[in-house]
Amino acid sequence: MKILAIESSCDETSAAVLEQTPQEILVHSSVTATSLDIHAGTGGIIPENAARMQVTYIMPVIIQSLQDAFKKEAKDTLINEIDAIAVTYGPGLIGSLLVGVETAKTLAYSFNKPIIPVNHLLGHLYANFINNKEIKFPFIGLIVSGGHTDLLYFKSHKEYTWLGGTRDDATGEAFDKIGRAMGLSYPAGPEIEKRAQQSVTHSFKFKSPLINEDNYDFSFSGLKTEAIRYYENLKKNKASLIDEDISDICYATQKAIIDVLVKKTLKASEQYKCSTILVGGGVSANQTFIRTLTDQASDNNIKVFSPPLKYCTDNAAMVGSYALMNYEPIEWQNINANPELYFG
Ligand code: KG4
Ligand code: ZN
Repeated sequence: MKILAIESSCDETSAAVLEQTPQEILVHSSVTATSLDIHAGTGGIIPENAARMQVTYIMPVIIQSLQDAFKKEAKDTLINEIDAIAVTYGPGLIGSLLVGVETAKTLAYSFNKPIIPVNHLLGHLYANFINNKEIKFPFIGLIVSGGHTDLLYFKSHKEYTWLGGTRDDATGEAFDKIGRAMGLSYPAGPEIEKRAQQSVTHSFKFKSPLINEDNYDFSFSGLKTEAIRYYENLKKNKASLIDEDISDICYATQKAIIDVLVKKTLKASEQYKCSTILVGGGVSANQTFIRTLTDQASDNNIKVFSPPLKYCTDNAAMVGSYALMNYEPIEWQNINANPELYFG
């Protein structure tokens, strides 16, 4: 079974060809175009700009992924080599989603291929199943992205329960907004991680929101206020800020976020008796976080999986992986972009 997967929920346009063999899920090609440069210029994503760039990139990216997978140049016959199409239908930005969904539906109709709609958030977790036969149910899934923070308990592919999520800002959003206030480029998560490594004094701390509450909720807007206020005060009271000041704020921000993510994820694994944790979403690219979680989990014999870096942020391979593990095609007429899609 070979599948063409399409992802266009936000500012990345991505297509991938995957195959499920008896042994594992293989990625034959994965092509991603991003409009990040444009959004870096505006300090964040303007949805209309993202949608326009999706229109520009979608067909070149799909064609490139087919050519890479089948090592052929012909454009119009390559789609015959695939058995089905998978597409992200939500959540995300409506304009961006529409481009991917309508393209996938048109291809499915024109070439008579089955089509599978995929929830972007579940896709992030299923990036872990690529080239990986080790994952065992039950597991705890933690999604940490630019738009979401969710903790789930999976009994099987089909049976899962949402345990909690953010009440306000998502994890990646907190990184991005705190970074933007300090003049770091968008998206600020990777830059904050890099600068945090340069902090030596660790002289102050920010509060880890909701860390001691007996629930699986998260909240990052208070941390955002605390970090930005700290930065503004420092700027007011010092003639000029040095790199060390920014690094210390980055360290304290990252630590406050990691501490609460790790504590609540481990608490969920203990309560639901899971010896496996899957992490996914852009923030799972943060190696300081993954290392901290892995170290603390291993003390309790819990194994942590996180995707290879290239499949942490938005990509189509994760969408294909979900569709192959949950192969349920539906009529193309019944697939609609759903920006508010959550967990059903
Ligand atoms: O999953 P993703 O690509 O897009 C959404 O579905 O939202 O996640 C993007 C987010 C951004 O907020 C970005 O700052 C964050 O992931 N991110 C990181 C790191 N790399 C990406 N956050 C912290 N540390 C990183 N190394
Ligand atoms: Zn995402």
